[in-house]
Amino acid sequence: MTDLVRLEVEDGIGTIRLDRAPMNALNAEIQHGLIAACREAAQRKDVAAVIVWGGEKVFAAGADIKEMETMSYTDMVDHSALLQDFTRSLAQLPKPTVAAITGYALGGGCEVALACDFRIAADDAVLGQPEVSLGIIPGAGGTQRLARLVGPSRAKDLVFSGRFVKAPEALAIGLVDSVVPASEVYESARSMMARYVGGPAYALRAAKEAIDRGLEVDLDSGLEIERMLFSALFATKDRAIGMRHFVEKGRGPAPFE
Ligand code: HXC
Repeated sequence: MTDLVRLEVEDGIGTIRLDRAPMNALNAEIQHGLIAACREAAQRKDVAAVIVWGGEKVFAAGADIKEMETMSYTDMVDHSALLQDFTRSLAQLPKPTVAAITGYALGGGCEVALACDFRIAADDAVLGQPEVSLGIIPGAGGTQRLARLVGPSRAKDLVFSGRFVKAPEALAIGLVDSVVPASEVYESARSMMARYVGGPAYALRAAKEAIDRGLEVDLDSGLEIERMLFSALFATKDRAIGMRHFVEKGRGPAPFE
């Protein structure tokens, strides 16, 4: 366990807090910490949804360049699996996730945000994949998740140029889902995730898995994934509760377990 990443749980929402001043540079310790926090958030019954938050000033300015500077090719062959594992553990967390972005989300920081289901950015936030300026490319899923999110041409523009993208442009190209005043980012993320507290956890999990896994395969295979998950939900108590609630003309959300 590390103090650089904490899982803080309140009212059914888990906040994975990155805490490495001044820029939340993502060193190996923070990468391992993020994996552990995701595992804990996935397992805990009192966590319905997850926010990734770097604090009021910065989301994360990328992998720790000072740590990487002296690494050789063989060092990186070993280390690069961890780079993809820490964003994969977030992408595969079986609960809704949102990145609450203040300040910079650059390089690996932008890739952490890309691994979430949603992104809310401060009006003065800056995102980007500046790795080419260091002679490398995004290595924590950026070339893949960015292209899937904003399309290959825009991804190539951002990755080839390494340019910084301000919040309004990020919103226009679909890199973030909403832009709010900087002081409201975290609360906006909480409001968004609060919708899932007390919700049908297995249906949400299945929906996320069907959409994410379906995007990686051809349509018929994706439909098969949907069919299997859809059928499986008929084994859950939530399905019985949700349908009974409707049939009995219950008011408001169903009392899911
Ligand atoms: C290590 C970093 C860092 C980083 C900032 N710092 N970013 N240290 N790794 N990624 C350190 C600076 O060296 C400095 O330390 C302190 O944080 C404050 O940064 P400044 O540059 O003085 O602040 P400012 O002028 O406000 O500029 C902020 C910034 C700039 C625009 C974010 O720091 C910057 O461009 N950082 C690098 C961004 C980047 O290239 N990210 C991609 C990394 S590669 P001192 O000791 O001097 O005070 C990557 C690969 C992904 O992410 C692969 C998988 C994860």
